[in-house]
Amino acid sequence: MFDCTGDFDMTIMDQGKGKKHRNREKRSNVEDQARKQKKKRNRDVREENSIVGFHGSVVEIDSENQDAPIMVSDEVGEDGARVRRLRFFTLDQTSHELVSDHIQTEMALTAEGTPDPTRLMLQYHRVMYDAMCRLPTVVKKVCVLGHGAGALSSFLSTLLRFEICAVDSNPAVLRLGRKHFNDRVTAQHDDGSSFLRRSVGSFDVVLVDLNAPSNEALDAPPREFCTHDFVDLVARVTGNLIMNVLGGSEQARSDVKAAYSRKFSTRWVHPDGCNNYILVATQQTT
Ligand SMILES: C[S@@+](CC[C@H](N)C(=O)[O-])C[C@H]1O[C@@H](n2cnc3c(N)ncnc32)[C@H](O)[C@@H]1O
Repeated sequence: MFDCTGDFDMTIMDQGKGKKHRNREKRSNVEDQARKQKKKRNRDVREENSIVGFHGSVVEIDSENQDAPIMVSDEVGEDGARVRRLRFFTLDQTSHELVSDHIQTEMALTAEGTPDPTRLMLQYHRVMYDAMCRLPTVVKKVCVLGHGAGALSSFLSTLLRFEICAVDSNPAVLRLGRKHFNDRVTAQHDDGSSFLRRSVGSFDVVLVDLNAPSNEALDAPPREFCTHDFVDLVARVTGNLIMNVLGGSEQARSDVKAAYSRKFSTRWVHPDGCNNYILVATQQTT
């Protein structure tokens, strides 16, 4: 076999080829090297015990993701059920321990190992769904900002036959969702705010399930989804919003509520033992 990655004399092979052609070959060698390095990194991390303290079986790792690497893995969930998870993570390069670990999507696995979209595995998703069932509106058309690998959207679409318009800004997450989560909802690749700005018509409810960049006060949602400008936009397209709010100080969370209270009646749902605060905003009756 011919190994094109090493240094070798191109002079004979290059006879008769133009500069453009040589540049293209150079570029494709660099791309080959990058591909090989990526494969090696993925293999290293997939090897048994290469993530110290991680108990699960790795399905796929995308280490080239825009912010942090993404891992899809099969694990045993909180209640002992087998689950598939998609997480953003970073590893300490020396100790190979997880430095950060943020589960984005979790779906139950059937006995055959197939993702089952008919169950909601994350408690805060169940809280969001419960809040949705109590809205003073008959819900048919739902907008999901933060589709992830599709646990919430697939549940609402498969089990309840709701019309779902879902969007996520991370193409790698969407790809892994389609490949490994039996994701049947076709989500758009877009920023949640731009998507809503361009959307025509209205929704019975907008569900906001967006993680924030690590330098912001809250872990969810990103700052821009709590501005007066965004709240005005939401009020134009729906009478109901249910938003996952995570982390931050009590003050930061109460600022979120205050922003939505300008246009909506708002309340928190925060069951014992749940780290997430779910903001429920419904149209004010004036
Ligand atoms: C917690 S996950 C969503 C989980 C998902 N609802 C589910 O049911 O599996 C958060 C998602 O928000 C996406 N996200 C973060 N900021 C965004 C933005 N500005 N616009 C759209 N998606 C965004 C991330 O790519 C990530 O997939």
